[in-house]
Amino acid sequence: SAPASTDQPLPDGLWNSPFLKACRREPTDVTPVWLMRQAGRYMAEYRAVRATTSFLELCKQPELATEVTVTAAEILGVDAAILFADILLILEPLGFDLEFAKGEGPVIHNPIQSADDVDRLRRLDDLEPLGFVFEAVRLIRAALPPSLPLIGFAGAPFTLACYAIEGGGSRHYEKAKAWMLRDPGAWNALMEILVDATARYLNAQVEAGAQVLQVFDSWVGALSPHDYRRFVQPHMTRLFSMLDPRVPSIHFGTGTGSLLELQRDAGGSVIGLDWRVELDEAWSRLGDQVGVQGNLDPVTLFAPISEITAQTHRILDQADGRPGHIFNLGHGVLQHTPVDHVRALIDVVHEYSQTRRGG
Ligand code: CP3
Repeated sequence: SAPASTDQPLPDGLWNSPFLKACRREPTDVTPVWLMRQAGRYMAEYRAVRATTSFLELCKQPELATEVTVTAAEILGVDAAILFADILLILEPLGFDLEFAKGEGPVIHNPIQSADDVDRLRRLDDLEPLGFVFEAVRLIRAALPPSLPLIGFAGAPFTLACYAIEGGGSRHYEKAKAWMLRDPGAWNALMEILVDATARYLNAQVEAGAQVLQVFDSWVGALSPHDYRRFVQPHMTRLFSMLDPRVPSIHFGTGTGSLLELQRDAGGSVIGLDWRVELDEAWSRLGDQVGVQGNLDPVTLFAPISEITAQTHRILDQADGRPGHIFNLGHGVLQHTPVDHVRALIDVVHEYSQTRRGG
C-alpha cells in the first residue's frame, strides 16, 4: 500500500513526531510506543472515574472520555494517545441494543439471526448519534500536548459481525462462522453495511482531529486463510480504500500468523503483530511497503521488570532499527497489570531504542 501522502497540513512538531514518522516508515531517533487499552481498569485514575460512571456513560460523556484518554497518555509517557471509546458503539445506531453488563463484558440483546434481520438494520446515514465520539476527539486533540498524535479507531466488519451475530463474546464464533458459510449473500450484505458505516465513522474522526486510524479485527484469527480470502478480505480491501488517504492506518488482529500477507494486501500502512509470531520473520514476510506494530505478550507485564526488559530488548533487536516499527503489546493491557511495570516498559523502549541507534 502507498504511504499516506506527504502534504497533510499538520503542525511541524506533530507531523515529525516519532509515531507519525514511524507510520510513514521514516527513520526516528527513538522507537515510538503506545499500548492498546492504555486507559483501563489497571490504572487507579481510571477506576476512580469508573467508580461513579458506567462504562457506556463514560464513552458518551466527551469531557470524561477526554480526561481518561489524556491522563493515561500523561502518566505513561507514551508517544500516542488513543481515543477512549469502544468498537461496539457503532452498533447502537445500526439498531443493536448494547449493554456492558457488570463483570460479563458486552451483551447485545437483539443479535441478528437471519437475512431478514440484515434487511431491517439501519444505515449510518446520519452520524449525529455518534456525535459524542467526534466531540471527544475534538476535546482530546485540544487537550493533548500539540505534538502528541491522537489515534482514532473502529472495529473491523468481521469482528463487529461476531458480536452482532453471537450477541456477545464467544469462544468459537460458531453462529457467525456458520452463517458466513451457509448464506454468503446475507453475510456479504451485512459486511457491506458494516464497511459503509465504519468508513464514514473513521473519516469523521479524522475530520474531528485524529491523525491516525486503527482498525481492530481482534477475532479474525479464528478464520482459515481460505475463508478469510473469500468472506473477509474483499470487505477489508473496500474499507481501507474508503479511508481518508492523507491519514496512516494500522490494521490490527490477533492470532493472525497465517493471515498476515492477506491482511497486508487488504490495506493498512502498519500491520499489527501479536506475540505468537517472531517480529523479524513476520516483517520480512510482509516486505518493505508496510510498518509493523507490536509485539510483546501482554502477560509479560506480570513478570519481573528484568524479564520485561529482556523481552523488550529482544523485540527491539528483532526490529533492528528498521524504520516503521511501532512498539506495542500484541493485544490490550490486562486488567490486573501493575502500573509500575507498564511505566518501566515505556522507559525501556525509549532508552534501549535510542542506545541501539547510538544516541
Ligand atoms: O485502547 C484504549 O485505551 C482505548 C479504548 C478501547 C476500549 N475498547 C475501552 C474499553 C478500545 C480501543 C477498545 C476496543 C475494543 N473493544 C476491542 C478491540 C480491541 C481488543 O481488545 O481486541 C474489543 C474486542 C472491544 C469489545 C469490548 N469492550 C470487550 C470485549 C469488553 C469487555 C472486556 C473487558 O476488558 O472488560 C469491552 C469493555 C471495555 N472497553 C473496557 C475498556 C476500558 C473495560 C470496561 C470497564 O471499564 O469496565
